[in-house]
Amino acid sequence: MSESYVIAPSILSANFAKLGEEVSAVIASGADWIHFDVMDNHYVPNLTIGPLVCEAIRPCTKAPIDVHLMVKPVDRIIPDFAKAGANIITFHPEASEHVDRSLGLIRECGCQAGLVFNPATPLTYMDHVMDKLDVVLLMSVNPGFGGQKFIAETLNKCREARAKIDAYTARTGRTIRLEIDGGVKTDNIAEIARAGADAFVAGSAVYGAGKDTDPNRYDSIIGSLRAELAKV
Ligand code: DX5
Ligand code: ZN
Repeated sequence: MSESYVIAPSILSANFAKLGEEVSAVIASGADWIHFDVMDNHYVPNLTIGPLVCEAIRPCTKAPIDVHLMVKPVDRIIPDFAKAGANIITFHPEASEHVDRSLGLIRECGCQAGLVFNPATPLTYMDHVMDKLDVVLLMSVNPGFGGQKFIAETLNKCREARAKIDAYTARTGRTIRLEIDGGVKTDNIAEIARAGADAFVAGSAVYGAGKDTDPNRYDSIIGSLRAELAKV
C-alpha cells in the first residue's frame, strides 16, 4: 500500500540560496512531488515565490510540481503557473469568486486541479465540483507559515473527506488525492494516513533535517517518513 502514498516536501523551508539543488536532493532521496507554496501578503500574511521561481526550478526535476496558491484572486495567475511548468494547482475556495470556473481554468491550462480547505472551512465546498477535482488538500495549520503545530481536529475532517471521496470513486470510478499540509512529522504521519490521507506535505520536517553539503542529506528523513507509512 505504501507505494501509493505521495510525499511532497514543501520548499518553503528549503535553503532558497540553493533552491535547484534542494529540489533535486529531496527527489533523489525518494520524495514524489515538490510542494510549492505561493503567498501574496494579502490572502495570507506572508510573501513567497511566484511563476518565475517555478520556471527556474522546472529543469531541476521531472517530479510533479504541486502549486499551492495562497493568493487572492486566483484566476489571473493560474495560466502563468501552467506556463511555468506546474503540474498540479490548488487554491482556497474563499479566494475565488467563482470556484467552479477557477477549477475549470486550471484544467484548461493542462494541469490537475484542487481545492484547499483551511482548518475552519467546511468540506461542503467540494460537493458540487467533484468532477473537476483531482486533489483535495486539507490544511492542518492556518496557512501562511511553515513550522506550525498540527491541528488534531484535522484527523476527523480527514476521515470525513475520505468518506466523501470513496463514495464518489465508488460511483464514478475516478479517484481524487487527499493531501494534508501542515505540521506533518515522522511521529504523526502514520496516524494521518490511517485517517485517510494519501499525500503528505512536509516542509520543516524534511528541509529542517539537514542543510549541509551532503547530497544524500534527505535520505534519512524521507526514509523514516516512508517507513512510518509502511506500518499503516
Ligand atoms: C503553510 C504551507 C505549508 C508549509 C508546511 O501555509 O502551506 O505547505 O510549508 O510546513 P510545515 O511542514 O513545516 O508545517
Ligand atoms: Zn502548502
